Amino acid sequence: MAKPSVRLAAVKVIEKILRQQSSLLYLLNESAKQFEAQDARLLKALCYGTLREALSLDAVIKRYLAKPLKTKDADIQAALLVGAYQLLHSAVADHAAINETAGLAKKLKKPWATKLINGVLRTIQREGAPNFSPSSWQPASTKHPLWLVDRWRADWGDECARNIVSANNERAPMTLRINIRQSSVDDYSKQLNALGITHSIGTLSASAIILDAPCNVEELPLWFEGGVSIQDEAAQLSGHILAKLPGKIGVDACAAPGGKTCHWLEVKPELQLTAIELEASRSTRIHENLERLKLSASVKVADAGDVDHWWNGTPVDLLLLDAPCSATGVIRRHPDIRLLRDAAQISELTEIQSSILERIWPTIADGGYLLYATCSTLKAENENAVASFLAKADDAVYTEIEIHGDAPTEYGVQFFPKTGGHDGFYYALIQKRPKEYA
Ligand SMILES: C[S@@+](CC[C@H](N)C(=O)[O-])C[C@H]1O[C@@H](n2cnc3c(N)ncnc32)[C@H](O)[C@@H]1O
Repeated sequence: MAKPSVRLAAVKVIEKILRQQSSLLYLLNESAKQFEAQDARLLKALCYGTLREALSLDAVIKRYLAKPLKTKDADIQAALLVGAYQLLHSAVADHAAINETAGLAKKLKKPWATKLINGVLRTIQREGAPNFSPSSWQPASTKHPLWLVDRWRADWGDECARNIVSANNERAPMTLRINIRQSSVDDYSKQLNALGITHSIGTLSASAIILDAPCNVEELPLWFEGGVSIQDEAAQLSGHILAKLPGKIGVDACAAPGGKTCHWLEVKPELQLTAIELEASRSTRIHENLERLKLSASVKVADAGDVDHWWNGTPVDLLLLDAPCSATGVIRRHPDIRLLRDAAQISELTEIQSSILERIWPTIADGGYLLYATCSTLKAENENAVASFLAKADDAVYTEIEIHGDAPTEYGVQFFPKTGGHDGFYYALIQKRPKEYA
């Protein structure tokens, strides 16, 4: 049987993202199954790279197309993106990038497109990368959709929007969360030094170490003993915030893959924790992570807002709501967000967020806490969502978190992605008014 083509697989992944059919993570997992490890890595690199540059590449391609491609030819558009990415941003030899990509037209059963792909890619090779003005806010320059850049500018101002864009256009670092029950950050750092794994100690989270370059997790000291996990530094703050609050009964309402569930149990092992996740397929990741870290929680597959389905009526002391969101704080890790999201989805998401918040609130004990979190950088999903909840729930008391964010906010702490550092993230702490004050 002929060896499957990595380029063709990449084109099919990108085509499905252009058609808004699925996410990069899901598509890559599926597609990678046909390849040996080395080709699976190549496929991943090609897809991630193409998607990071897609909006700028799209502007280049449009310059050289005589007329726009039809919607039904998203596969040819994907081939042009993958080809242009290889020409302008990779070490692949130009002739291979052009000929092999043009050769895909036949495999896509569109032989008519061979000449078109060949012509566009040869022009790009000849003309080189155009210089899109760095001061422009257009997608060709920012590599982000205009609606999103406009939202950042409106929410946070031009300087901040520019910083978010430029951090998103860099690679995210690999950040470790040290299980401080097993070793201190300083001791772990010494073990990394002994192995020649260069790194820096996190400045935001007390358990974070940021590697200078990614490595295979299995090379990390204490990986198999559950002494270390991979988790962004801002995401690690939830465990540290929750560890300081009193209470025995905890709920992690949107839990998969279980990063925050596990961290919470590492810092508060006595907690009786229920982890809820809507998608059964994703909930298996929670079990895998709990098992590796030798932790235990009750995992339930349910809609967190459908409390009759999962709540036994015992008031919850501490509830983490890491709400489904636009993920606009983690674009550098999930470059498909640049193509998959649109402005209308933000309104849908804010409705989902406020619906879960309102329906889950009755489960909280008097005096108990709800920590609202998102990996969004948009006010609508963060401080505005919290403000409108506080306006509706008269037993909800906004509580300050003593951590400095990256921007002044009325409610909660907002972080933006930082080059070489943490992701974009948001936290707000809300207490249910204790009975004696009601
Ligand atoms: C931001 S992710 C959570 C990340 C997780 N807390 C961690 O740190 O590993 C949001 C998760 O919520 C799940 N989800 C979305 N809507 C939900 C709902 N109504 N009830 C429960 N889980 C939900 C999604 O499937 C997704 O796995």
